[in-house]
Amino acid sequence: MKKIIVNGPCKLKGEVIISGAKNAAVAILPATLLINGKCHLENVPNISDIRAYYEILESLGAKIDYISDNEVIIDNSNVNSAIASYELTSKFRASYYLLGALLGKFDKVQISLPGGCNLGARPIDQHIKAFEKLGATVEVKNGNVYASRTNRLKGNNIFLDVVSVGATINAILAATLADGNTIIENCAKEPHVVDLANFLNSMGANIKGAGTDTIKITGVDTLTQKSSYSIIPDQIEAGTFMVAAAATCGDVVIKNCIPKHLEPITSKLIEAGASIEEGNSSIRVKMSDRPKAFSIKTMPYPGFPTDMQPQMCVLLAICNGTGIIVESIWESRFQYTDELAKMGADISAHGSTAIIKGVDKLYNAPVYSHDLRAGAAMVIAGLIAEGKTEVYNIEHILRGYENIVEKFKKLGANIEYIDDEALQGDKNA
Ligand code: UD1
Repeated sequence: MKKIIVNGPCKLKGEVIISGAKNAAVAILPATLLINGKCHLENVPNISDIRAYYEILESLGAKIDYISDNEVIIDNSNVNSAIASYELTSKFRASYYLLGALLGKFDKVQISLPGGCNLGARPIDQHIKAFEKLGATVEVKNGNVYASRTNRLKGNNIFLDVVSVGATINAILAATLADGNTIIENCAKEPHVVDLANFLNSMGANIKGAGTDTIKITGVDTLTQKSSYSIIPDQIEAGTFMVAAAATCGDVVIKNCIPKHLEPITSKLIEAGASIEEGNSSIRVKMSDRPKAFSIKTMPYPGFPTDMQPQMCVLLAICNGTGIIVESIWESRFQYTDELAKMGADISAHGSTAIIKGVDKLYNAPVYSHDLRAGAAMVIAGLIAEGKTEVYNIEHILRGYENIVEKFKKLGANIEYIDDEALQGDKNA
């Protein structure tokens, strides 16, 4: 069994370099399917979700040259199948971007329904609506999504009923090579939506308005890469280290980040009493006292990100006063609060609201990662708790954080990654 062991408490101090954005990379990798020829990507995070995406692309016929841990050249010219393996695609949510990308080039596409973190129902009605508006036929059957087209997709107006990152990205992917103009309204404005549009535009796509409510796309015939593309830094990884710095009363410089993307997190940390210094591509977070209480409501960007909610809850767990979190994106995102309660946190979570009464201290306990971001929250809780905290189910964490143990260790944490099976294997060898 894999686990992370944290011996707390500690005060984090030093510098940490943020990796490329997972949520941008999982959209850009399938987008490479739209390109003629090779595609050179830099700053790709070396995390298990991305390695799983490489495996899917290779299973479809892609040739990937792994230049370094964070740099690849992908050649999709031999991809001649758009039927993706259920086993590979059912593992994670972002495999549904294959639908939009493959529909741009192929007549028949098949992938599994989205998997990934268990945060609640994951409807894809808005994705389907977008594909149908562009002329595709979509059927959901036996755990798979089957999409087909008889001709090249045709541009149209698409109004999304809910602000959805996934549907916005899938609509962009499908409309990029469509015939004519597409207008997508009520779009998600997340940084990774903008990064995808920048990536596609750098290869000849005509996408305007990414980062606003309305995206206008004029379909083009082909995309070709002229120079390599570097993926933006990960907003949520940066935010996780910012919260960890504040929770441990530390002093950490977060490097290779985009401070603008972190504003909703920065403003809450200031409310909590942290001092924040912003550079061009760095943020310094310093905290000297116990956090003050604050409240958050998760919202689409530029609101407070749902993916930072569990980490912020740890900060509130030790705050002076009572904080409230309202989760408006995912219905089942408070399961992790039971784990924090094992460590002494006083949290009452019902429906979409959690009320957190700050306690003086957290104590060690064996805890489980319910999902990717909840897992990161458990690690932060371990950093502030007295004694040895064992975090289990860390496969979730490894899906989205590159070298998380090494990065915390460099900041002075007493933290270890243990793989019992590998240890057993060594003993038997
Ligand atoms: C969402 C988050 C994203 C986060 C990710 C993983 C938002 C807007 N999106 O992205 O920041 O990284 O979870 O935690 O904060 N929905 C529908 N029909 C659809 C698609 C979505 O009703 O076809 C609903 C979902 O149930 C959800 C909301 O829209 O309540 C947002 O979903 P969406 O943005 O698509 O989810 P992700 O792309 O996974």
